[in-house]
Amino acid sequence: MLKRSDFPQGFLFGAATAAYQIEGHSFGGAGPTHWDTFAAGPGNVVRAEDGAVACDHYHRYESDLDLLKDAGMDAYRFSTSWARVMPDGVTVNPEGLDFYDRLTDAILERGLKPFQTLYHWEMPSALADLGGWTNPDIAHRFGDYVDVITDKIGDRMHSIATLNEPWCVAYLSHFLGHHAPGLRDIRAASRAMHNVMKAHGVGMTRLRAKGKKNCGIVLNFEYPQAADDTPAALAATKRQEAIYNRWFIQAATKGTYPEEALEGFGPHMPANWQDDMAEISQPMDFLGVNYYTRSIITAAPDAPWPHVGAVSGPLDKTQMGWEVYPDGLRDVLLMLKSDYVGDLPVFITENGMAWDDTVENGAVFDPQRSSYIAGHLEAMLEAVAAGVNLQGFFYWSLLDNYEWAFGYEKRFGLIHVDFETQKRTPKASYYDFKAAIAR
Ligand code: FCB
Repeated sequence: MLKRSDFPQGFLFGAATAAYQIEGHSFGGAGPTHWDTFAAGPGNVVRAEDGAVACDHYHRYESDLDLLKDAGMDAYRFSTSWARVMPDGVTVNPEGLDFYDRLTDAILERGLKPFQTLYHWEMPSALADLGGWTNPDIAHRFGDYVDVITDKIGDRMHSIATLNEPWCVAYLSHFLGHHAPGLRDIRAASRAMHNVMKAHGVGMTRLRAKGKKNCGIVLNFEYPQAADDTPAALAATKRQEAIYNRWFIQAATKGTYPEEALEGFGPHMPANWQDDMAEISQPMDFLGVNYYTRSIITAAPDAPWPHVGAVSGPLDKTQMGWEVYPDGLRDVLLMLKSDYVGDLPVFITENGMAWDDTVENGAVFDPQRSSYIAGHLEAMLEAVAAGVNLQGFFYWSLLDNYEWAFGYEKRFGLIHVDFETQKRTPKASYYDFKAAIAR
């Protein structure tokens, strides 16, 4: 594995988590979210598991943060839950604010830089009732939450991201139906594709009004490759790229959406969406990049627009069935630099792998994860050498946690969690990473 000294001075190493996936949403007066009700529906989530208890981080955050500190990390990426702060989407929960206040101080006490994400998918159920991301007013409701949480902890954040992975928020959740609210509807998807970016714009405006610096967004990218060089497969790959990789970054940096994607979404977009593009594309201070794998794209003429299919590739796969392809991370970073962000600071805000880890004699042997990290660190360094202004890396995730539709089955953590006893066991990869980033 590369070492800290191989990276530019000041490069930050950390790990990431998200509120609903670790906190235990039944504690501390948090309100129900669309994930609670989605999980309660038939066939949506493995064993119908939800985030009611998760890693019980709500009660164990101090010892969890000790594990970050003991690994020699510089920074911690976490999220604050909208539904914990405003359980009915309107009324403020003082207990929720108090939790994030204590959490912030505990992060700082351990010498870690707090990287906050404002929305990592905890839509309050009361707002989901009003249409959630399809509601034309949702961006302003989000802005109100941004004001409340920023007034409480914004003074101590090192960095603030508006949203995590709008592709998942909009497309995966409203078109593919795999995440809450589980819709498969192009009109709902088109509205969500825009409203989520409008929320980013409004969020930025609210943060800037409070003088906040180091503000940006976290987007996910996959490296798309055509399965063959037929015109149909190449065109399908372009559509996939437009929807997945370009829609959000192009909106945030240029104030436009890609033509190949508007082909399908255009007729269903909210009225006068063009009027929001200036606010959406206001300057940011950084881009967060989440990267896990590549996808191999085929044309699917019989499927509805965008007529895209995918096939499984030949490379080594993780517990998710995702191919391990570090070169894709380098190439995504180069594409972002040349097409969208130039010299804007970039952070890898998520990258990691799931494996069916087990504790044996008190230890977890996970060489696959160490080699996954090693491969992606190499790819990052290649991007740095090619001029990408990459400033940090957050492993996903600190802890095994609630992996959304996969429940507790997929283990991404550097630290194993026994969900019966809540016992934490740092895996071998935790110690390998610690050795690599030692000063
Ligand atoms: C990303 C999510 C994160 C986690 C990882 C595996 O899409 O942001 O919460 O589920 O994937």
